[in-house]
Amino acid sequence: MARNPRTPRWLEAARRRKEPVPEGSRADWLARALGRAGVMPRAEAEQAIREGRVEVDGRVEREPFAPVHAGTVVRVDGQPCALEAGTRVLLFHKPAGVVVAGSDPEGIGTVFERLRAVLSPELRGYEWYAVGRLDRDTTGLLLFTNEERMVAHATSPETHVPKRYVAEVEGEPSEEAVRKLREGLVLDDGPTRPAGARLLAPSRVELVLTEGRHHQVKRMLAAVGHPVRTLHREAVGEVSLDVPEGSYRFLTEAEVHEGLQFREIPSPSGRGSG
Ligand code: URA
Repeated sequence: MARNPRTPRWLEAARRRKEPVPEGSRADWLARALGRAGVMPRAEAEQAIREGRVEVDGRVEREPFAPVHAGTVVRVDGQPCALEAGTRVLLFHKPAGVVVAGSDPEGIGTVFERLRAVLSPELRGYEWYAVGRLDRDTTGLLLFTNEERMVAHATSPETHVPKRYVAEVEGEPSEEAVRKLREGLVLDDGPTRPAGARLLAPSRVELVLTEGRHHQVKRMLAAVGHPVRTLHREAVGEVSLDVPEGSYRFLTEAEVHEGLQFREIPSPSGRGSG
């Protein structure tokens, strides 16, 4: 029978197994929990589970979407694994050319491949989610996290985490054009929120947006008659880019909590700060 794409996979799995559905919508499942805890990335975890290498509470578990809870005891290849993982956030300096996607049809490469190439072996065990997207030709600050709720927080239209960009543009924008960028203009998907906008040089504009619509900077600058030549992201929240291209660093707890305004929410697998 065809699956209903709206039904979460963990819920389908729980129904198949005729298990009680965990209360609340914040269910967690085995493969995802292993990826978050840094045991192994999700795809590898799914394979290990299907191969019968993973035990849950003393029994081999072959369902990647099997629910896990606080206190679930998991072993991989006989070794106990802690599922309690704190939120980890990496700041990566994205080079131009690579895509923020799982695969690259043009064969240049993905930002995930670039990140993995510079991570220590220990950190390659995590599933790293990109926090939002940057276009292939955009450079600059891209955050990665092991916590999907962090992604939801930072990219939610309600949160309004500011993102600071610097664009080199065609022509020389007038004060009037900058005022329009600042006050908001109408794009084909609706009006933009008021933004920070200022000229740094005759053809260089700084924009601070509190929303993240598709190609928004390029569309806003094109709308005032100054198409973007190059685009660079300098900051997200109060976190500024400070590592060389192609490298990364961890955010501190203060940067996560104050700089990005992210507070952890307890979850069924019992993870918290750490
Ligand atoms: N706005 C754009 O147009 N492109 C980006 O990569 C990011 C914001």
